[in-house]
Amino acid sequence: MAIIGTDIQKAMALLCDQQVVAIPTETVYGLAGNGFSEKAVAQIFAVKNRPFFDPLILHIGNLKMLEQIASTLPPLALQLAQQFWPGPLTLVLPKTANVPNLVTAGSDWVAVRMPKHPLALALLQNLSFPVAAPSANPFGYISPTSAQHVANQLGDKIPYILDGGSSEVGVESTIVQIIEDKIRVLRLGGLSIEDLQQCLGKEITDITLSASNPKAPGMLSSHYAPTKPLYMLQNNQSWEEALQQMPPNTAILAFNELPTNLQESYPHLILSKNACLNQAAANLFAALRTLEALNVSCILAQYVPETGLGRAINDRLRRASFR
Ligand code: TXA
Ligand code: MG
Repeated sequence: MAIIGTDIQKAMALLCDQQVVAIPTETVYGLAGNGFSEKAVAQIFAVKNRPFFDPLILHIGNLKMLEQIASTLPPLALQLAQQFWPGPLTLVLPKTANVPNLVTAGSDWVAVRMPKHPLALALLQNLSFPVAAPSANPFGYISPTSAQHVANQLGDKIPYILDGGSSEVGVESTIVQIIEDKIRVLRLGGLSIEDLQQCLGKEITDITLSASNPKAPGMLSSHYAPTKPLYMLQNNQSWEEALQQMPPNTAILAFNELPTNLQESYPHLILSKNACLNQAAANLFAALRTLEALNVSCILAQYVPETGLGRAINDRLRRASFR
């Protein structure tokens, strides 16, 4: 079983030895390995049971490392990096020859981000290579937002889990491809479209969350799925109407409120009692894990307002309920 601890030196030593360890980030926990080592990267795919067509994000601790990874740095990329790094933004840029093809699934583009979590940042700043890190969950399942989540699923496959507490943001990074002076959003995530637009001073029109021909394969229609079926409350449907079509042992995941009679009759969780979308995002994946572990046969959830981090929450709920 993996040891759970806060020893950065130990995590660094394992990474330098081309082994795979879990690390905390502000978005979700990552399954980390030396991003310049094919051996380490192959091990990441094996531990996650991830198909090789799904490329990995490289994590860096300083901008100097970016020069080793990206062959060109358009001014727009630098502007976004300066504004939002460290933070929940991933930039997709043309790659250098240093980056193994295994990392990018054969693409000439590489995804890079500088995470904000202090343990991750300290670790990255002391390494001479970037760290490849997908979310530390088995392929297709909900991302982990605590060390225990990682241990529950991958604990028998990795030696060490660096414990940085609960992930503050709770949904994965926003992925943005920079094509010269244009920007294309490939994944909605922990940095809101509104924040991006404010920095750019213009509206973002190219949001390409492809599913069938996945540019960002985390964007496969069915993804982020819990082990129990997840159903969504439809537009204008009341909880009562939806529950009539559900088995009696259904669990409910509500955004900010739930009528008292339903609270008494159904196991339930409320994502944010004061309707804060950032708090809802931080609680989302842990809530799905808690509900699916109950003695229930399915989960009924509702979409949240489609603004700020609400977009990323709804995207995850849509994919988790896809069938
Ligand atoms: O917040 C995050 O981004 C977390 C933490 C650990 O940093 N990582 C994460 O990684 O969510 P992962 O592997 O679960 O999702 C990364 C997504 C995948 O859907 C992948 O397809 C996309 O990034 N991606 C990676 N490289 C890409 C590339 N070269 N072009 C387009 N998409 C890419
Ligand atoms: Mg993932």
